[in-house]
Amino acid sequence: MRRIDVVLRCDVEFRCTAPCYGVLRNALDCACHDLQGLGRESEVEVRVSQVYVSNHPLMQHKLTLLRDVRTEPKKFRELIREISILLAYEATSDLALRDKVINTPLAQTTGKELAEIIGLIPVLRAGLGMVEGFWEMMPAAEVWHIGLYRDHKTFEPIRYYSKLPVAPTVQVCVILDPMLATGGTAVEAVQMLKNWGAKKIKYVGLIGAPEGIQRLQDAHPDVDIYLAAVDDHLDEHAYIVPGLGDAGDRQFGTG
Ligand code: URA
Repeated sequence: MRRIDVVLRCDVEFRCTAPCYGVLRNALDCACHDLQGLGRESEVEVRVSQVYVSNHPLMQHKLTLLRDVRTEPKKFRELIREISILLAYEATSDLALRDKVINTPLAQTTGKELAEIIGLIPVLRAGLGMVEGFWEMMPAAEVWHIGLYRDHKTFEPIRYYSKLPVAPTVQVCVILDPMLATGGTAVEAVQMLKNWGAKKIKYVGLIGAPEGIQRLQDAHPDVDIYLAAVDDHLDEHAYIVPGLGDAGDRQFGTG
C-alpha cells in the first residue's frame, strides 16, 4: 500500500515522510516525548490520520475491469468481492493477536489468534457488495448495517437505518462504502459509530476523491482510510471522475 499523506499534530504540526506505519508511530512517540521533556504534557494533543492506497497489480487490474462501462452487474459484483478481499488483507494488518496453544499431529506449539472482535459496517446499499469478500477473510466478524443516502440537492447525508444495539459488541469497526465522494456520508457513518461508543474505527472504500478524503481526515483524524484508488475530482453531481458511476446501481442492475 502507498501512503499518500500523513500529518501529525501535537501542539506543533509537522509533515512526516516516514515510509511505513511503524516508523511513523516512532516519529510520533519521539515528538510527544520531546514535548513532555519540555514540561508541556497538558498541551499535547495527538491526531494521526493515514490514507492507504493500494498499488498492487491485481488490484489495479481488477479495478480497471470494474470501472469499465461494459462490465455487467454479475461481473461487477464478483470484482467488488475480489477487490474487497485484497482490501481486507491491507486493512487488517494491525489487528491485535494473542497466543494460542494447539497440538499439531507432531507436537504442541503456540500459535496466534485474533484477539479483537471485528464489526463490519456496510453502508446501505452500495457497501453491501463489499461484505462478502471481507467476511470470507474473517468469518467470525459481526455485520451491522447502517443506512445513509445523499440528499440529491445538498449532497448531504440523511440517516434512514440503524439497528445498532445499545452498547458496542465489537472492538474494531470497519466501515464499508465503495465511493468516498464528498465525504459527507463517511463523516456521518463514523459519527454514528462514535456515538455508539466505538473506539477503533477504520474506513474502507474502493475509490476516493481528494475532497472526500480531506473532509473525512479533518472530521475524524483518528480513522485510517483504505482505498483501491484516489481519483481526480467530483463532477457537478458529486460523482467521482473518472470513477465507476453509481456503485449501487452497477451492483444491483438498477441504473
Ligand atoms: N456514489 C457513487 O456511487 N458514485 C460516485 O461517483 C459518487 C458517489
